Amino acid sequence: RAGWPGIIRAYADRIELPPGAEVVTLHEGGTPLIEAPHLSELTGCTVYLKVEGANPTGSFKDRGMTVAITHARATGFQAVLCASTGNTSASAAAYAARAGLTCAVLVPQAKIALGKLAQAVVHGARILQIDGNFDDCLELARKTAADHPVMLVNSVNPVRLVGQQTAAWEICDVLGRAPDVHCLPVGNAGNITAYWRGYGEYHTEGRIPATPRMFGFQAAGAAPLVHGAPVREPETIATAIRVGSPASWTSAVAAKDASAGLFEAVTDEQILAAYRLLAEREAVFVEPASATSVAGLLHTVADGRLPAGSTVVCTVTGNGLKDPSTALENNIEIEPLPVDPQAVAAALELT
Ligand code: F0G
Repeated sequence: RAGWPGIIRAYADRIELPPGAEVVTLHEGGTPLIEAPHLSELTGCTVYLKVEGANPTGSFKDRGMTVAITHARATGFQAVLCASTGNTSASAAAYAARAGLTCAVLVPQAKIALGKLAQAVVHGARILQIDGNFDDCLELARKTAADHPVMLVNSVNPVRLVGQQTAAWEICDVLGRAPDVHCLPVGNAGNITAYWRGYGEYHTEGRIPATPRMFGFQAAGAAPLVHGAPVREPETIATAIRVGSPASWTSAVAAKDASAGLFEAVTDEQILAAYRLLAEREAVFVEPASATSVAGLLHTVADGRLPAGSTVVCTVTGNGLKDPSTALENNIEIEPLPVDPQAVAAALELT
C-alpha cells in the first residue's frame, strides 16, 4: 500500500520500543485482505484471505522481525540468531542486513525450501545446516543465545509476537469487526498466539464487539497439538510447519480453548489440493504450509463444524515463490516449439 509506513509506525501507540530506538523497517504489513469468491461458494461462508506473502520477504515473519531487530539494535546487540524451517531465517537475514547486524541461522538439513535458503544466502546470513529437525535447531539456538552475546529472534522472544499481533488489528480495521472464525496453519504456534492476543486487546478496548473462534490446522505428520503429545519425527510436504514440539504450546491451547476453537490435522493430499485450488481459482500463489489453513477450512465445513453464513478469514502465511520445487513437481512437460505461428496455433489446438 502506497504510503504505508510499516507496522511499528502504523501502530505506534500500541507497540512499545526501548527508549531512543531507531525503527528498522522494510514497510512490512498492510497486506491485502481479499475476498475469496470460489471458497465462499464452496463453503457457504464469506471467506477472506489475509495474504501475508505480500510482505517484504514474502511471509508474516516480517511483522515480528521489524520489532525484534529494532529491539536488538536499540539494546546494543551486534548479532542475532534463530532456528528456522526457512521463513524466519529469510526474514531475520533481511532485517539484520538492513540494521547492519550479523545474523546466523540454524536450519534443518535438506528440509528448507529453496527460495528461503536463497534469501538467507543473498542477505548475507551465516547459515548452519544442522543434522536434525527444527526442534533440534531451536533447542541449539536457545542454548547458544543463553550463553553468548547474540539475541534470539525466534518467536520465543516475546517482542516477535507483539509485532505479529498487528495482522489481527489490520483485519479488524478493514472489516470493522473480527471474523467469526479465523483459520491458521500452526507450526511452532507463535502466530496463533499472537493473533489471539491481538483480537483480545481490541476486544478489551471495545474496538470490536466479539473475538473470533481460532481454528488451528497442522499437517497430519506433524500434528502434536492435535494429538496432545510431541511428535518425535515430524514429516510433511509443508516444510514450514514441520515442527514436532511447538514452543508456544500452552498459549496456543489457551487461545483455542478460550475462543471455542479447534485444532485439526489435514493430510498432505488435502494441503496440496488446497494449494492448487488457491492458485487456480483464487489466483493466490502460496507455499504449501499456507494452504493448510484453507485445507482445514474445507475439512471443517465438510464435517459440519463450521456453520454456513460465517465470516471467515484464512491467513495464507507465505508466498508460493518460496518453494518452486513443489510448484513444478508432478507438472506437465513443457516442450519447446519452433519459432512458427502455426506451431503455436497447433499446440493450442486453435482452429
Ligand atoms: N506458515 C508458514 C509459511 C511458516 O513459515 C510458519 C512457521 C507457519 C505457518 C507457522 O507459524 O510457527 O507461528 O505456528 N515457520 C517457522 C519458521 C517455524 O522457522 O519460519 P507458527
